[in-house]
Amino acid sequence: MHDVADLIDTSFLTDVLMGLSGRQKSIPCRWFYDDRGSELFEDITRLAEYYPTRTETGIIQDNIQAIAGFAGSEIALLEYGAGAGIKTELLLEKMDGNCLYVPIDIAGDFLNQTVDRIRAKFPALRVRPITSDFTIDFDIPDDVPTERRVGFFPGSTIGNLSASEARTFLGRMRRHVGRSGAAIIGVDLKKDIGTIIAAYDDSLGVTAAFNLNLLTRINRELGGNFRPDLFEHRASWNETDGAVEMHLVSRVEQSVTLADHRFQFEAGETIHTESSRKYDPQSFAALADGADWVVDRTWMDADRKFAIFGLRPKS
Ligand SMILES: C[S@@+](CC[C@H](N)C(=O)[O-])C[C@H]1O[C@@H](n2cnc3c(N)ncnc32)[C@H](O)[C@@H]1O
Repeated sequence: MHDVADLIDTSFLTDVLMGLSGRQKSIPCRWFYDDRGSELFEDITRLAEYYPTRTETGIIQDNIQAIAGFAGSEIALLEYGAGAGIKTELLLEKMDGNCLYVPIDIAGDFLNQTVDRIRAKFPALRVRPITSDFTIDFDIPDDVPTERRVGFFPGSTIGNLSASEARTFLGRMRRHVGRSGAAIIGVDLKKDIGTIIAAYDDSLGVTAAFNLNLLTRINRELGGNFRPDLFEHRASWNETDGAVEMHLVSRVEQSVTLADHRFQFEAGETIHTESSRKYDPQSFAALADGADWVVDRTWMDADRKFAIFGLRPKS
């Protein structure tokens, strides 16, 4: 019997080998988050150019009573892709002592650090972490009460999923919370492209370091021989997908070896590492509708940069 960590290691190798074998080389963005990647992401959230975290935090602060009221009392809060759970603390402060916090993340070690911090800060709160990949089917353990489960998916992490992956994910969340449940989802909205690109290509190079760390992780965990100094970070707008894309661009013609496979790169050839789709309230409502959800509440900042949607089951 394999444990979760073994399964995650196996799928990392499979994903990288398959992704590098495609015509457009790619690696799924879930592999950004080793310990260093998770720390770098937290650094990104504090950058001047990275408006999503600041804006989403402001929306939560400005509407905390309404958001906590929508969530309800005595709930099990299921947070998908919890990361450091910084914004979650705002919500947890408003919850009564009978709540259960269920943070879910693929990055198990980083998740454990988050859980330690949350437990120290909220000694009365029950915390039930789950290390899992939310893009695959998984069950919420039976010891999580079913009366009122609320899915929480902040950070516009939903933008990292393709339209069909996002629909599947929302359907999974709908199944996890059941008919009596709800969901609270943070979504980055369409806006001028310069503002979006700057958020993914900051002047201090933190996002570049985050992107390049993926190659360092592959070398360390999978025995690859990438030379990160021979790749550079690029962020660009894909109009068709309505998404900002991150790529790693090979500076030179080169070959890389990994697990007995050799991958050839032309100078200028890229590895697509992340797409971050931007929605508007209408397109998000249509997406939710396709997964048996209704948008019940919408909270936005004054500039309509970011939205938090409160969803209830359609049936
Ligand atoms: C963009 S960060 C958002 C972190 C935090 N929720 C926030 O709002 O700042 C994405 C988080 O989701 C986790 N994650 C990414 N892909 C995942 C997957 N497929 N399954 C589970 N967790 C994932 C990462 O480890 C990371 O903590």
